[in-house]
Amino acid sequence: MRIDIITLFPDLIKSPFESSILKRATNSGKADIHFHNLRNYATNKHKQVDDYPFGGGAGMVMMIQPIDRCIKMLKKSRSYDSIIYLTPDGEKLNQKKINHFSTLENIIMLCGHYKGVDQRVRDHLITDEVSIGDFVLSGGELAATILCDCIVRLIPGVLGDESSALTDSFQDDLLAPPIYTRPANYKGWEVPDVLLSGNASLINNWREEKSLKNTQKRRPDLLK
Ligand code: ADE
Repeated sequence: MRIDIITLFPDLIKSPFESSILKRATNSGKADIHFHNLRNYATNKHKQVDDYPFGGGAGMVMMIQPIDRCIKMLKKSRSYDSIIYLTPDGEKLNQKKINHFSTLENIIMLCGHYKGVDQRVRDHLITDEVSIGDFVLSGGELAATILCDCIVRLIPGVLGDESSALTDSFQDDLLAPPIYTRPANYKGWEVPDVLLSGNASLINNWREEKSLKNTQKRRPDLLK
């Protein structure tokens, strides 16, 4: 999978890709991630990328020309399955959407800043608008990083244990059950006996029951 991230602040977003799963995915070639500094696509000599809003009002608006130029340049080399704009008024992200994005081959992510982008970018250049939650970040970079992380870990072969992503919270609309590791007794705080029993079917039943209970208690909305 190839992901092209268009941003005014590439330095803000690069370091999460240099550790852990994202690093492993890029080093092994399973994810090919590229950063594009929007300022390099500015069309005037001042390298201007934003301007005042028509009609007045506070804040600056990201101009359409640099964004259009950058996307056009990328599209010359390959076609894109999705061109995502990260914005707080986009469609709220969930595991189902992430699963879908993880099946795609080429994705562009556009990070907004200031008041956001000229509406014509959204109307004519973008195919998907994604919000990571009902709160406002200072830009789309952190949201794009989160989206990348969620997508890339689902690419086959990226996680060490293939079954691990399938048992994540939300994969079946349930929260994950509690997990434990050694020691079995720490300061008198004990691991549930069933997990030490070696009986796989008992353990599965226990996990399903705990998943359901966790979900009923914390996220009853998931059970509908
Ligand atoms: N940019 C600013 N806030 C955001 C959010 N909540 N989701 C996605 N992009 C954003």
